[in-house]
Parts: sequence; structure tokens; C-alpha cells
Amino acid sequence: MHINENFLKLKAGYLFPEIARRVNAWTEANPNKTERLIRCGIGDVTEPLPEAVRNAMHAAVDEQGVAETFHGYGPEQGYAFLRDAIVENQFVGLNISADEIFISDGSKCDTGNILDIFGQGNKIAITDPVYPVYVDTNVMAGNTGEADENGAYEGLVYLPCNAENGFAPAIPDEKVDLIYLCYPNNPTGTTATREQLEAWVAYARANDSIILYDAAYEAFVQDSSVPRSIFEIEGAHECAIEFRSFSKNGGFTGVRCAYTIIPKNLSVTASTGEDVTLHSLWNRRHATKFNGASYPVQRGAAAVFSDEGKAQVSALIEHYMGNAALLRKACQDCGLTVFGGENAPYVWVQCPEGTDSWGMFDKMLEEAQVVITPGSGFGAAGEGYFRISSFNTRENVEEVCRRLAAI
Ligand code: MLT
Repeated sequence: MHINENFLKLKAGYLFPEIARRVNAWTEANPNKTERLIRCGIGDVTEPLPEAVRNAMHAAVDEQGVAETFHGYGPEQGYAFLRDAIVENQFVGLNISADEIFISDGSKCDTGNILDIFGQGNKIAITDPVYPVYVDTNVMAGNTGEADENGAYEGLVYLPCNAENGFAPAIPDEKVDLIYLCYPNNPTGTTATREQLEAWVAYARANDSIILYDAAYEAFVQDSSVPRSIFEIEGAHECAIEFRSFSKNGGFTGVRCAYTIIPKNLSVTASTGEDVTLHSLWNRRHATKFNGASYPVQRGAAAVFSDEGKAQVSALIEHYMGNAALLRKACQDCGLTVFGGENAPYVWVQCPEGTDSWGMFDKMLEEAQVVITPGSGFGAAGEGYFRISSFNTRENVEEVCRRLAAI
């Protein structure tokens, strides 16, 4: 019997379950304070599903109850009604066609599973701090060595993002094969300018690298000069894959629906010298390991693009961004240095002098009964920061602001 021993290299548990574990231990020890607890840790939406989405899902469930409109297995890549709606609403003028879109049940799964189509021995660049899924899935896939005492894995190229460099990772001075970029960024809440993305695309094309571009938070961009898609950048169709999700805009964290865009002219050279499109590999992988997102869920996702759906989603975004503005101000009023939260639902805050990330987590839990995410959980360069999620009710956010003022 052999197991995948790469799993043994993984350090702590996955960040968010680890936070949940610590919070549960605290609630058991403090039953009288549990009611006061406000969770601003994991970025999980709190507001109900838009009505347009619910109506579409209800109608789709009813269709499933009638033989004439019943749907069994759907196309693994997703129904045409949803793929078309995505192109017509998200990629107008960006030269993306519906058959370049693969519907799935989540971007977490897609950003992890994408490694299936890449071989061993690639050099992988990741920003630091970073969404932990990118690192952990590379560890599981055997693309790293062991972790050092800071939790940094041998073999990965870490691109530090901090206040000094404006949270903009430097382009590597060596050749890397895969580069993970996430904009608007989780966890720092910062964005990349068009010029910065142009530099990444130029680097990727010059080095035959592939950019894995996670745009799960694109709906939160408020500033019209900030690119929402890597495919706004000329040349990206030859070097980038983009991941998008309905989780945070449509409130689908519990419903599950996302999509990955792989342009058909994105190709790499196999060891045989043959040109292979990544689209064909992912199509093969998707059709083999996935049977498609459920029909009612895809109908619900398509309703995000109806007139009512768009208005309801805008209201949700406005709600969460209003929360982010309140949280930013409350932290600034306490004298803390704040980043992000203007084009993203995450506020990234420098810890007060003398307190580290987990120290701040403990302090917020003990003194304010507010759960935040320690920056170091996202990587060594996240040490000295913490993240507050604006996914919450307005009432809770206002209460968090009051408690911040009191500590
Ligand atoms: C986060 O809090 O970073 C996100 O909710 C994680 C995720 O989307 O999987």
C-alpha cells in the first residue's frame, strides 16, 4: 500500500478549518461570551440568494418534476444557456467564445484541479501572502519539497507582497512555468493596474509561462480603470487561464457554481515537440472527472445575468462594499494602517506594533469577540497583518466597528 506522501509535507490544517477549530475551543471555554461572537474570518456571504436566482432555481426544480422537461446528465462543460450568458455579459469584446468556458462547482476546486493537466517538474511562482489553496494543492501534487520553519516550501518561487512594494509582486528574475495571480486580491484586497498586468503577460509570453488568474472577486471592482479580466490584456489569450465564481457576487458559497476560461489558442509544446492546447487537456479532464454542475444551479447562475438578477447582485455588492468602507474607517480611526477594501471585500490591516498576526487573532477574539484571519495564515509575508472580511450583515459590521474602537 502506498499513499500520496506529499500530504505529509503539509504543515497545519487548512487555514479556515484551523481558525474554526480555535474558535470552537474558545467558545467551549467561554460559553457565556459565545453569543457575542461575530465572524469576520472566512469570506462567506451572509445575505440571502437574489430573488431572481431563487425563482430560476424553483422553476428549474419544477422542470425536473415533469418528464417532458426533466434533465438527466447535462453537458460536462456546462449548459449553453449559461456559457452564452457569461460571454454576453462578462466578456463582450474580449474575444472569448462560449466553448472556452467550463462551468464547475467552484473556483477552489478549479484552481486546485487545474494541476491535473500540468506535469511534474514545473517551477511555480506564487504571491505571498496568498490564497492557501494554490500552495497546498502544489504540495499535494508533489511540486514542492519540505516546508521550512516559516512554512515556506522548498521549490516554490515566493513573490512577497507588502506595504513597501504596494502589494505588487515583483516579476521574477528567473524563468517560472506557472504563475498564480489573484485580482482583486485575496487576502490583501488590493488590485493590479493594467500596466502591471501587461508586464505579467509580457513576461509569461517571453518565458513560455502560464498565468493562472483568479478573478473570483472581479464583481467588487469599483474603479473603472482597474482591469476585471486578464483577457483585457493583449496577448493574454496565449498565456492565461482565468477562474471566475458566482460565490461572492451571486451569494453562491453554499449553492456552488463557478467557471474557468481557457482560450483555445493557448497551447504548450509537449516533450514530443507536438503543440498541445490546454483547452483540449482540460476538456478531457473535466469530462472524465466531472459530470457537470446541477441543472437548477446553472439556471440560478444564468439568472444572475437577467435584468432583475443584475440589479439584485449590484445591491449585494453595494452592501458588502459599504461594510468594507465602514471597517476601513473604524480601523483607521483606531490608528491602524489599512489596505484594500476599496475594490475588494477584504480589508487588510497592519497589526499594531508589538503584536503578530496570531496575537491579533487572539486579542480580537478575547477582547472583542470578533473573528479575523491572521495574515500569517496566508504565508510568511502575511505576518504582521490581519484580514477582516466585509461579508456580514450591516448590523454586525457596525458592532465590529464599535468594538474596534473600544479595544
Ligand atoms: C476566503 O475567506 O479566503 C475565501 O472564502 C476562501 C474561499 O473562497 O474558498
